[in-house]
Amino acid sequence: MKDTHDSQIRTLLGLENAFEDYAFDESRVDLSGWNSTHPFFRRLLEEFKPKLIIELGVWKGMSSLHMAVQSGKLGLKTEILAIDTWLGSSAHLSSDGRRDELSPRNGYPTLYETFLANVYSKKQQDVIVPLPMDGTSAAFALKRLGVKADLIHIDASHEYEACLQDFRNYWEILADDGVMLCDDYGIWPDVSRAVCQFAAEVERPVWASMAKAVICKDASVGFDLTLDKRREIRA
Ligand SMILES: C[S@@+](CC[C@H](N)C(=O)[O-])C[C@H]1O[C@@H](n2cnc3c(N)ncnc32)[C@H](O)[C@@H]1O
Repeated sequence: MKDTHDSQIRTLLGLENAFEDYAFDESRVDLSGWNSTHPFFRRLLEEFKPKLIIELGVWKGMSSLHMAVQSGKLGLKTEILAIDTWLGSSAHLSSDGRRDELSPRNGYPTLYETFLANVYSKKQQDVIVPLPMDGTSAAFALKRLGVKADLIHIDASHEYEACLQDFRNYWEILADDGVMLCDDYGIWPDVSRAVCQFAAEVERPVWASMAKAVICKDASVGFDLTLDKRREIRA
């Protein structure tokens, strides 16, 4: 495929275009995700108008795709850096039958092929830039390169220590007027505990509903309970 889009984040990171010689395999399309169309996505896009979004924990791409499509509908020029190992989580070793979700071939997951096929099928390959890397290594590199994102969605590990480390790492990459969105708050006890611990560390309120928690970098920004109206909460 000819690259029609000059991706700033791909150029900055020195990444190849994942779709340049991509041969679409329709049989790999599987548009299933978890909580991937939560209303907070659209609301935060409207409010923060992000130029760069980072998603840590992408799976088959459904939340990245939802943000890409909604950004397009809002007329935003948004790029989404989609970070995942595409190797699954600890649950894929410990739960009966879940290994199959990774479609392993020769003992190695092929989830990334599903992600590529999904992005291509929804024509979002100019918006979504995949970075196949573990979240901690990616954070080191992004910090070193001075990357700042306006919206960061964290949905990778659901273990307390790893999740807390993700929040700490990616907070440093979040722009001063940016927003962090955390999945599975109130659903996974370890994630809830990590969100609360982190919010206490950075002295920010948590705006949460239906398994998503919002933490704003700017301490003066808050929302009403439905996030419909933004209001100042501190002088
Ligand atoms: C719950 S899924 C993400 C779901 C996705 N956001 C959606 O809406 O469909 C979690 C993902 O995090 C990834 N992951 C887990 N630990 C990671 C790590 N340390 N670094 C990068 N990705 C990781 C897994 O490979 C998996 O794809």
